[in-house]
Amino acid sequence: MPQELRAVDWTGNSLALIDQTVLPHRAETVEIRDVDALVDAIQRLVVRGAPAIGAAGAYGVALALLQGEREGWDTGRVRAEVARIREARPTAVNLMVCVDRVMTRFDEGIEAVLAEAAAVQREDVEANRAMGAYGADWLLKRVGADRPLRLLTHCNTGALATAGWGTALGVIRELHARGQVEVVYADETRPLLQGSRLTAWELVQEGIPHYVQADGAAAGTILRGEVDAAIVGADRIAANGDTANKVGTVGVALACADAGIPFLVAAPTTTVDLSTASGADIHIELRGEDEVLEWAAVRTAPKESRGHNPAFDVTPGRLVTGLVTERGVLTVSAGELPGDHLR
Ligand code: MRU
Repeated sequence: MPQELRAVDWTGNSLALIDQTVLPHRAETVEIRDVDALVDAIQRLVVRGAPAIGAAGAYGVALALLQGEREGWDTGRVRAEVARIREARPTAVNLMVCVDRVMTRFDEGIEAVLAEAAAVQREDVEANRAMGAYGADWLLKRVGADRPLRLLTHCNTGALATAGWGTALGVIRELHARGQVEVVYADETRPLLQGSRLTAWELVQEGIPHYVQADGAAAGTILRGEVDAAIVGADRIAANGDTANKVGTVGVALACADAGIPFLVAAPTTTVDLSTASGADIHIELRGEDEVLEWAAVRTAPKESRGHNPAFDVTPGRLVTGLVTERGVLTVSAGELPGDHLR
């Protein structure tokens, strides 16, 4: 197996991020030494995926402390800079949860902050491994283990999107390790091609057979009977199981419901936001219009057109067959709601 990727790594005095905007054609790492650079990296999707931006935010508290020392900031300024990191993107709750967790050690100083950030990172990998096993067991029991599975996934949820291993892609990797994957349909993911650039790249590293397909192809592939189950990640899951994930996810879930195949969400409990009652309360990030009006920085839409570019959508809990967390699988559509089970 290739060496495990670390999308987010602490070097001792800076943050090393794999630059996810240039993969798969260039494998580059960017060194982040200050708050402005980290906020920019999160917003431009140099680092992306809910658990990965959570880990980056956790180390971001250390960055702010170190920058404050260099530049003579008072505590109020350091806290204000941490708040900027916390708010760099609005939908993935992991960013806020991880920053807040590390801030509980803020008054103890840099060593304590770094220890807490490292714990965030370590626990995310452990959660992903547990999810991999729970999700694989559940799918093999539910769909059957008599032949390898044909799976569909949306966006990128692998090692790049997390502290390591992956959530939905972690389940797929576990199934592959058990010899139980025939093929993966990787939706290309609009507007930034996380599926075709990043998921496909990770699948190549793992030697997992796959097709990249347009997001618009997913429903047809499912309704033609070419998929046994879909499995995706999440950016925020409300108490009632409504799930915000990469735009296009809800169409996959609707097609799965119509076809009668499982639609699984795999996410650590850090993605479950029990203070959010339902998906209607989730802030969906609206990104710049150019991402949909242009292709490779060349204008493709008429100059008069406006762009609508929500980064995420909300899948109602009634369409979520199973929610895989590090604690097990909840059958949300059958009434096992996160709000009742994960408090
Ligand atoms: O805009 P992105 O690339 O950060 O969106 C990522 C997703 O929607 C992922 O599916 C989600 O964060 C889970 S990653 C394990």
